[in-house]
Amino acid sequence: MPPSLLITGAAGYIGSHCVEALIRQASAYGLQGVQLHLLDDLSTGHREFLEKLCALAESHRLPRPVIHEVSLTDRPALEQALKQARPEAVLHFAALISVAESVQQPDRYVRNNVEGSQNLFRAMQKSGCQRLVFSSTAAVYGNPAGAHLPLPESTPVGPVNPYGETKLAMENAIAEAAREWGLHSVIFRYFNAAGASSSGLFGEWHEPETHLIPLLLRAAARGEKLKVFGSDYDTRDGTCVRDYIHVEDLACAHLLGLKALRAFESQGAAAQVFNLGTARGTSVLEVIRAAEAVLKKDLGRGVGYDIHPRRPGDSAVLVADSARAREILGWEPVHSSMENILRTAWEWERR
Ligand SMILES: NC(=O)c1ccc[n+]([C@@H]2O[C@H](COP(=O)([O-])OP(=O)(O)OC[C@H]3O[C@@H](n4cnc5c(N)ncnc54)[C@H](O)[C@@H]3O)[C@@H](O)[C@H]2O)c1
Repeated sequence: MPPSLLITGAAGYIGSHCVEALIRQASAYGLQGVQLHLLDDLSTGHREFLEKLCALAESHRLPRPVIHEVSLTDRPALEQALKQARPEAVLHFAALISVAESVQQPDRYVRNNVEGSQNLFRAMQKSGCQRLVFSSTAAVYGNPAGAHLPLPESTPVGPVNPYGETKLAMENAIAEAAREWGLHSVIFRYFNAAGASSSGLFGEWHEPETHLIPLLLRAAARGEKLKVFGSDYDTRDGTCVRDYIHVEDLACAHLLGLKALRAFESQGAAAQVFNLGTARGTSVLEVIRAAEAVLKKDLGRGVGYDIHPRRPGDSAVLVADSARAREILGWEPVHSSMENILRTAWEWERR
């Protein structure tokens, strides 16, 4: 029987790029003939992405992916999807992801992210699926003032917003499932995902958009001013510093994580946590200057911005130490120069 994989959140930004990579590189990772099951409630994702993924799979002579338009909060429908898919592993991207929205609606975030994930893990247990790759976030570290930079996975966790709290609760639920029924998992703590597929098929598309790079590119294209939140942080130019990681490097980590899950099994059930970033921090003003260089030819003008007060829940500096992913998974971020991130994101925005 060819393997089957179930991907939650496949109609979203990172999920769609990972499924694209899975389709294009299935043979290289021992997934010939893989049957993909794409599960998404389309609350923030895009049907168009699912359609493109189905067409892409067929053009790579893979079976047409099965679409499950199901919410993680609908337990019976979720259990039915798992029963039908009988996946060898689940890649779990689905979540609500806006920090600002989570501050306004914390209960909705708990219901969707935490309770939804618990439903998923129960459905996996029932269907006999014991392998999981999970999308976590640097937000679990909160504001690690005084911590050693870049941050290793051993940095004490302490989220500073409800979104980060839900992701940490999901990590804890995974650790519990490992103890209780032997779930094997890889937990990836992404730093700032950015950029777009080099194929031009997929890119960052959140509504409303809250991430710096698409907001910056859209403001620049319209000749509007970008809002910069806070210029009095304890950083080299006063603006927040982040570690930007290209979405295609994240996709590659997922393929390696899936492969490694099989090897980890001989070591007993446990959650293996990996930071995914570049160890390079870039401030908001540095991103703006790098964008000006990329956009100069097309726009012939600079990028305007206004300084606004800090936003609640923003950390000053988040930069990853990803040595563990490099050593254990053999992962190497090769697409994440700021120039490549901005160029691919700009090509996507222009489409
Ligand atoms: N974008 C980033 O910079 C970033 C950084 C760190 C971690 N992450 C994590 O990566 C994952 C994917 O993020 P993204 O940027 O692709 O977000 P996204 O909003 O583009 O995608 C999330 C997808 O999940 C789906 N979804 C949400 N709730 C669901 C539910 N209850 N049932 C079924 N589907 C549901 C949405 O419809 C959407 O397609 C999230 O778990 C997020 O926490 C993202």
